Amino acid sequence: MAVSIKSAREIALMRESGRILAEVHERLGEVIQPGISTFEIDRIGEEMIRSYGCTPSFLNYNGYPASICVSLNDEVVHGIPNKKRIVQEGDIVSLDAGVIYKGYHSDAARTHGVGQISKEAQALMDATKQSFYEGIKMARAGNRLFDISKAIDDYISGFGYGIVRDLVGHGVGSQLHEDPQIPNFAQRRRGPKLRPGMTLAVEPMINMGSWEVEWLDDDWTVVSADGSWSAHYENTILITEGEPEILTLLHS
Ligand code: MF3
Ligand code: CO
Repeated sequence: MAVSIKSAREIALMRESGRILAEVHERLGEVIQPGISTFEIDRIGEEMIRSYGCTPSFLNYNGYPASICVSLNDEVVHGIPNKKRIVQEGDIVSLDAGVIYKGYHSDAARTHGVGQISKEAQALMDATKQSFYEGIKMARAGNRLFDISKAIDDYISGFGYGIVRDLVGHGVGSQLHEDPQIPNFAQRRRGPKLRPGMTLAVEPMINMGSWEVEWLDDDWTVVSADGSWSAHYENTILITEGEPEILTLLHS
Protein backbone atom coordinates (compact mmCIF):
# COMPACT_ATOMS: atom_id res chain seq x y z
CA MET A 1 0.00 0.00 0.00
CA ALA A 2 1.68 3.18 -1.20
CA VAL A 3 0.13 6.29 0.28
CA SER A 4 1.13 9.35 -1.72
CA ILE A 5 2.62 12.40 -0.01
CA LYS A 6 1.52 15.58 -1.71
CA SER A 7 4.04 18.29 -2.61
CA ALA A 8 3.53 21.92 -1.57
CA ARG A 9 2.19 22.65 -5.04
CA GLU A 10 -0.27 19.75 -4.86
CA ILE A 11 -1.40 20.79 -1.39
CA ALA A 12 -2.15 24.29 -2.66
CA LEU A 13 -4.31 22.79 -5.43
CA MET A 14 -6.04 20.41 -3.00
CA ARG A 15 -6.83 23.38 -0.73
CA GLU A 16 -8.44 25.26 -3.59
CA SER A 17 -10.31 22.16 -4.72
CA GLY A 18 -11.60 21.65 -1.18
CA ARG A 19 -12.59 25.27 -0.69
CA ILE A 20 -14.67 25.17 -3.87
CA LEU A 21 -16.36 21.94 -2.80
CA ALA A 22 -17.13 23.44 0.61
CA GLU A 23 -18.88 26.32 -1.13
CA VAL A 24 -20.80 23.97 -3.39
CA HIS A 25 -22.05 22.03 -0.35
CA GLU A 26 -22.93 25.22 1.51
CA ARG A 27 -25.01 26.52 -1.39
CA LEU A 28 -26.49 23.15 -2.32
CA GLY A 29 -27.73 22.66 1.24
CA GLU A 30 -29.91 25.73 0.76
CA VAL A 31 -31.82 24.25 -2.20
CA ILE A 32 -32.98 21.19 -0.22
CA GLN A 33 -36.68 21.90 0.29
CA PRO A 34 -39.78 19.71 0.30
CA GLY A 35 -40.88 19.24 -3.32
CA ILE A 36 -37.48 19.31 -5.02
CA SER A 37 -36.53 16.20 -6.99
CA THR A 38 -33.20 14.48 -6.51
CA PHE A 39 -32.64 15.08 -10.23
CA GLU A 40 -32.95 18.83 -9.73
CA ILE A 41 -30.48 18.75 -6.84
CA ASP A 42 -27.95 17.06 -9.11
CA ARG A 43 -28.59 19.49 -11.95
CA ILE A 44 -28.05 22.51 -9.70
CA GLY A 45 -24.99 20.89 -8.12
CA GLU A 46 -23.38 20.11 -11.45
CA GLU A 47 -23.99 23.65 -12.64
CA MET A 48 -22.40 25.07 -9.48
CA ILE A 49 -19.34 22.85 -9.85
CA ARG A 50 -18.86 23.91 -13.45
CA SER A 51 -19.40 27.57 -12.54
CA TYR A 52 -16.14 27.36 -10.54
CA GLY A 53 -14.33 25.98 -13.58
CA CYS A 54 -14.25 22.52 -12.01
CA THR A 55 -15.35 19.11 -13.28
CA PRO A 56 -17.64 16.84 -11.23
CA SER A 57 -15.47 13.94 -9.99
CA PHE A 58 -18.30 11.43 -9.89
CA LEU A 59 -19.88 11.95 -13.31
CA ASN A 60 -19.12 8.79 -15.33
CA TYR A 61 -16.82 7.45 -12.59
CA ASN A 62 -17.14 3.68 -13.10
CA GLY A 63 -20.25 4.57 -15.05
CA TYR A 64 -21.99 6.56 -12.28
CA PRO A 65 -24.50 8.67 -14.23
CA ALA A 66 -24.59 11.93 -12.21
CA SER A 67 -22.49 14.54 -10.42
CA ILE A 68 -24.05 14.41 -6.97
CA CYS A 69 -24.98 11.23 -5.10
CA VAL A 70 -28.35 11.91 -3.47
CA SER A 71 -29.38 9.30 -0.90
CA LEU A 72 -32.63 9.56 1.07
CA ASN A 73 -33.51 7.98 4.42
CA ASP A 74 -32.65 4.24 4.29
CA GLU A 75 -30.36 4.86 1.30
CA VAL A 76 -26.80 4.89 2.59
CA VAL A 77 -24.80 6.26 -0.35
CA HIS A 78 -24.63 6.44 -4.17
CA GLY A 79 -28.34 7.19 -4.71
CA ILE A 80 -28.94 8.05 -8.37
CA PRO A 81 -30.77 11.33 -9.00
CA ASN A 82 -34.23 10.81 -10.49
CA LYS A 83 -36.93 13.24 -11.67
CA LYS A 84 -39.62 11.18 -9.92
CA ARG A 85 -37.87 11.05 -6.56
CA ILE A 86 -39.24 13.98 -4.57
CA VAL A 87 -37.79 15.15 -1.27
CA GLN A 88 -40.43 15.35 1.50
CA GLU A 89 -40.67 17.07 4.86
CA GLY A 90 -39.13 14.81 7.51
CA ASP A 91 -36.66 13.12 5.14
CA ILE A 92 -32.92 13.06 5.62
CA VAL A 93 -30.92 13.67 2.47
CA SER A 94 -27.27 12.73 2.10
CA LEU A 95 -25.41 14.65 -0.59
CA ASP A 96 -22.02 13.35 -1.67
CA ALA A 97 -20.02 15.42 -4.12
CA GLY A 98 -16.55 15.61 -5.58
CA VAL A 99 -14.83 18.22 -7.70
CA ILE A 100 -11.72 18.19 -9.82
CA TYR A 101 -9.76 21.45 -9.79
CA LYS A 102 -6.65 21.55 -12.00
CA GLY A 103 -6.40 17.78 -11.79
CA TYR A 104 -6.99 17.46 -8.02
CA HIS A 105 -10.04 15.88 -6.45
CA SER A 106 -11.74 16.77 -3.24
CA ASP A 107 -14.57 14.67 -1.83
CA ALA A 108 -17.14 15.56 0.83
CA ALA A 109 -20.62 14.56 2.00
CA ARG A 110 -23.26 16.16 4.20
CA THR A 111 -26.60 14.87 5.47
CA HIS A 112 -29.43 17.41 5.66
CA GLY A 113 -32.76 17.17 7.45
CA VAL A 114 -35.76 18.41 5.46
CA GLY A 115 -37.98 20.72 7.51
CA GLN A 116 -39.04 19.17 10.79
CA ILE A 117 -37.35 15.78 11.26
CA SER A 118 -37.67 13.21 14.04
CA LYS A 119 -35.50 13.40 17.15
CA GLU A 120 -34.10 10.00 16.23
CA ALA A 121 -33.07 11.15 12.76
CA GLN A 122 -31.45 14.30 14.17
CA ALA A 123 -29.54 12.24 16.73
CA LEU A 124 -28.26 9.93 13.99
CA MET A 125 -27.08 12.88 11.89
CA ASP A 126 -25.40 14.53 14.87
CA ALA A 127 -23.59 11.36 15.93
CA THR A 128 -22.43 10.66 12.38
CA LYS A 129 -20.94 14.14 12.02
CA GLN A 130 -19.38 13.99 15.48
CA SER A 131 -17.85 10.58 14.72
CA PHE A 132 -15.91 12.24 11.89
CA TYR A 133 -14.53 14.78 14.38
CA GLU A 134 -13.71 12.06 16.91
CA GLY A 135 -11.89 10.16 14.17
CA ILE A 136 -9.78 13.05 12.98
CA LYS A 137 -8.60 13.88 16.50
CA MET A 138 -6.29 10.93 15.82
CA ALA A 139 -5.32 12.14 12.33
CA ARG A 140 -1.87 13.40 13.25
CA ALA A 141 1.61 12.63 11.96
CA GLY A 142 3.10 9.82 14.02
CA ASN A 143 -0.26 8.23 14.80
CA ARG A 144 -1.46 5.35 12.66
CA LEU A 145 -4.25 5.19 10.12
CA PHE A 146 -6.51 2.79 11.96
CA ASP A 147 -6.35 4.94 15.10
CA ILE A 148 -8.87 7.05 13.15
CA SER A 149 -11.02 3.97 12.47
CA LYS A 150 -10.98 2.96 16.11
CA ALA A 151 -11.89 6.43 17.37
CA ILE A 152 -14.95 6.48 15.07
CA ASP A 153 -15.94 2.98 16.19
CA ASP A 154 -15.46 3.77 19.89
CA TYR A 155 -17.65 6.85 19.60
CA ILE A 156 -20.44 5.22 17.57
CA SER A 157 -20.60 2.00 19.55
CA GLY A 158 -21.97 3.98 22.49
CA PHE A 159 -25.15 4.69 20.49
CA GLY A 160 -25.91 1.16 19.33
CA TYR A 161 -25.90 2.27 15.71
CA GLY A 162 -24.55 0.13 12.89
CA ILE A 163 -21.30 1.22 11.26
CA VAL A 164 -21.35 0.40 7.55
CA ARG A 165 -18.50 -2.01 6.80
CA ASP A 166 -18.83 -2.57 3.06
CA LEU A 167 -17.76 0.97 2.16
CA VAL A 168 -14.80 2.89 3.55
CA GLY A 169 -12.93 6.18 3.34
CA HIS A 170 -9.86 6.54 1.15
CA GLY A 171 -6.86 8.56 0.07
CA VAL A 172 -7.69 11.31 -2.43
CA GLY A 173 -5.63 13.53 -4.73
CA SER A 174 -4.94 13.25 -8.44
CA GLN A 175 -7.33 10.26 -8.24
CA LEU A 176 -10.71 10.19 -6.50
CA HIS A 177 -9.83 6.92 -4.79
CA GLU A 178 -6.22 6.45 -3.74
CA ASP A 179 -4.61 4.25 -1.11
CA PRO A 180 -5.15 3.76 1.75
CA GLN A 181 -8.64 2.44 2.48
CA ILE A 182 -9.97 3.90 5.72
CA PRO A 183 -12.52 1.69 7.50
CA ASN A 184 -14.87 3.34 9.98
CA PHE A 185 -14.61 0.43 12.42
CA ALA A 186 -11.75 -0.83 14.58
CA GLN A 187 -9.08 -2.99 12.96
CA ARG A 188 -6.84 -5.60 14.54
CA ARG A 189 -3.77 -3.60 13.58
CA ARG A 190 -3.02 0.08 13.90
CA GLY A 191 -2.14 0.32 10.21
CA PRO A 192 0.38 2.52 8.36
CA LYS A 193 1.91 5.61 9.94
CA LEU A 194 0.33 8.94 9.12
CA ARG A 195 2.69 11.45 7.54
CA PRO A 196 2.41 15.15 6.72
CA GLY A 197 1.20 15.65 3.14
CA MET A 198 -1.23 12.73 3.10
CA THR A 199 -4.71 13.77 1.94
CA LEU A 200 -7.55 11.53 3.10
CA ALA A 201 -11.32 11.36 2.68
CA VAL A 202 -12.74 10.29 6.05
CA GLU A 203 -16.39 9.33 5.65
CA PRO A 204 -18.39 7.53 8.32
CA MET A 205 -21.66 5.99 7.07
CA ILE A 206 -23.87 5.12 10.03
CA ASN A 207 -27.15 3.18 10.12
CA MET A 208 -29.72 3.57 12.87
CA GLY A 209 -30.08 -0.23 12.94
CA SER A 210 -27.83 -2.99 11.65
CA TRP A 211 -24.58 -2.29 9.77
CA GLU A 212 -25.63 -4.57 6.94
CA VAL A 213 -26.31 -3.07 3.51
CA GLU A 214 -27.63 -4.19 0.14
CA TRP A 215 -27.34 -2.91 -3.40
CA LEU A 216 -30.46 -2.03 -5.38
CA ASP A 217 -30.98 -3.36 -8.90
CA ASP A 218 -29.54 -0.13 -10.35
CA ASP A 219 -26.18 -1.54 -9.10
CA TRP A 220 -25.37 1.76 -7.39
CA THR A 221 -27.80 2.68 -4.63
CA VAL A 222 -26.66 1.20 -1.32
CA VAL A 223 -29.49 0.77 1.21
CA SER A 224 -29.55 -0.49 4.77
CA ALA A 225 -30.59 -4.15 4.80
CA ASP A 226 -33.12 -3.61 7.61
CA GLY A 227 -34.63 -0.42 6.19
CA SER A 228 -33.27 1.72 9.01
CA TRP A 229 -32.24 5.25 8.15
CA SER A 230 -28.61 6.10 7.44
CA ALA A 231 -26.42 9.21 7.59
CA HIS A 232 -23.12 10.09 5.90
CA TYR A 233 -20.59 12.78 6.71
CA GLU A 234 -17.30 13.24 4.89
CA ASN A 235 -14.48 15.70 4.48
CA THR A 236 -11.14 15.67 2.71
CA ILE A 237 -8.38 16.34 5.24
CA LEU A 238 -4.65 17.04 5.10
CA ILE A 239 -2.25 15.44 7.57
CA THR A 240 0.15 18.08 8.94
CA GLU A 241 2.77 18.20 11.69
CA GLY A 242 -0.01 19.24 14.07
CA GLU A 243 -3.79 19.30 13.82
CA PRO A 244 -5.26 17.96 10.60
CA GLU A 245 -6.46 20.59 8.16
CA ILE A 246 -10.04 20.07 6.94
CA LEU A 247 -9.88 21.08 3.30
CA THR A 248 -13.60 20.88 2.49
CA LEU A 249 -14.84 23.33 5.13
CA LEU A 250 -15.18 27.08 4.78
CA HIS A 251 -12.81 28.96 7.07
CA SER A 252 -14.13 32.42 7.65
N1 MF3 B 1 -17.59 9.64 -1.65
C1 MF3 B 1 -17.90 8.55 -2.56
C2 MF3 B 1 -16.83 7.53 -2.49
O1 MF3 B 1 -15.77 7.85 -2.04
C3 MF3 B 1 -18.05 9.04 -3.92
C4 MF3 B 1 -17.96 8.06 -5.04
S1 MF3 B 1 -19.44 8.00 -5.81
C5 MF3 B 1 -19.21 7.61 -7.41
O2 MF3 B 1 -17.02 6.38 -2.84
F1 MF3 B 1 -20.34 7.76 -7.95
F2 MF3 B 1 -18.34 8.38 -7.94
F3 MF3 B 1 -18.77 6.39 -7.48
CO1 CO C 1 -15.32 9.42 -0.61
